[in-house]
Amino acid sequence: MSAAPAPPRQAWLARPSRRVGGVIAVPGDKSVSHRALMLGGIAEGTTTVRGFLEGEDCLATMLAMRAMGVRIERHPDATVEVRGVGLRGLAGAPGPLDMGNAGTAMRLFTGLLAGQSFDSVLVGDSSLMKRPMERVALPLRLMGARIETSAGKPPVRIEGGHALRGIDYRLEVASAQVKSAILLAGLYADGRTSVTEPAITRDHTERMLRAFGVPVEAANGRVSLEPATLRGCDIEVPGDFSSAGFFLVAATVAGRETLTLRNVGMNPTRTGLLEILRLMGARIEVTGERCAGDEPVADLIVHPAPLRGIEVPQRLVPLAIDEFPALFVAAALAEGETLVTGASELRVKESDRIGVMAEGLEALGATVEARPDGMWIRGGTLTGGTVDSHGDHRIAMSFAVAACRADTPVQILDVANVATSFPGFVEVARGAGLDVSTQEAR
Ligand code: S3P
Repeated sequence: MSAAPAPPRQAWLARPSRRVGGVIAVPGDKSVSHRALMLGGIAEGTTTVRGFLEGEDCLATMLAMRAMGVRIERHPDATVEVRGVGLRGLAGAPGPLDMGNAGTAMRLFTGLLAGQSFDSVLVGDSSLMKRPMERVALPLRLMGARIETSAGKPPVRIEGGHALRGIDYRLEVASAQVKSAILLAGLYADGRTSVTEPAITRDHTERMLRAFGVPVEAANGRVSLEPATLRGCDIEVPGDFSSAGFFLVAATVAGRETLTLRNVGMNPTRTGLLEILRLMGARIEVTGERCAGDEPVADLIVHPAPLRGIEVPQRLVPLAIDEFPALFVAAALAEGETLVTGASELRVKESDRIGVMAEGLEALGATVEARPDGMWIRGGTLTGGTVDSHGDHRIAMSFAVAACRADTPVQILDVANVATSFPGFVEVARGAGLDVSTQEAR
């Protein structure tokens, strides 16, 4: 019997376009949406989440919270109501919790579930099943949790019913996911839990815990808390800066007029790409700065501008960690050389983002050299061709941006996972003047 044919993989055809401009809004922030469901679920009372990201990653978190007994209602206007069950109100799920492609969900749930009275098993898709989980399991074990991984990878098995104690932990990698997992476990621990980070990482967990009434102290890179009751609240989710990032690059390298992005989250722990692009010569105005709940937001106006290569300051790496695929594209179109170092974390994201981006950029004629912890790129022009995103949403979207400046169309393979973080990308991109369309490819 011959093997069944491989299922068709969704692909895009992205044609060159120098017409990027107009006014767009990107969907809600993924990191904030995950956290709103988790914290809302263990709060007392109802939490209303406006601007929720209805991407597959956050829907995996929603299904998991529901499987543990939390009632969550979705309304058509991206508003979600979470009926909190209180810190001790979650119930064991009937089977493994499937996190899909979502590393954030798996790592944060490992922390949240470490202090429960019931057992849990966390699984995910083929990409997530290859990602490192000991970075969260290790500190949680120091707190008294019983957690097993499979040679460091999922499935993650959490044995419930073990008392946790607070720790004072220094992170080995700058990771908001690990920091957040420890803080969530700290809500169930005896005494104070503190986390010191080697470099600043996104602080959405700390901000949101405070919104739920938990006193969180943060100073000199050290965050700490003690167990406290969470009170349901209203959360306004800003537009995701990471989703905006693709358009910051597209409008800079392929703009015909200005592109305005409305209501973009501007948490300073997320906006490293803005600073890096400005160092490269980008002209991006920040206007209408305001607060959406506990998160700063603004409208961004991007003017087309020529870019020049730079050495990316290492301090900006964690602040732009998800934006490197788009930044590598910007560098490939800049004048001169760009060097990224201190970014080995990119090797363990949804794909190996150094290897996969280097392969794709080379397929489009760019001169790049993958390094263990970054990339060296000599800017120039790009040709058309076929690139494989390896199922990595941000790589697929980055090559849609690259195609704007290619000399012939670019076929981008394996793009279905874009729905994990940016449902409706093709429509928003077309609205901004990119020429992307969906096709089926084998
Ligand atoms: C995230 C933290 C980052 C980031 C991820 C989302 C979060 O991961 O890459 O997309 O929501 O906490 P690390 O903590 O592994 O750096």
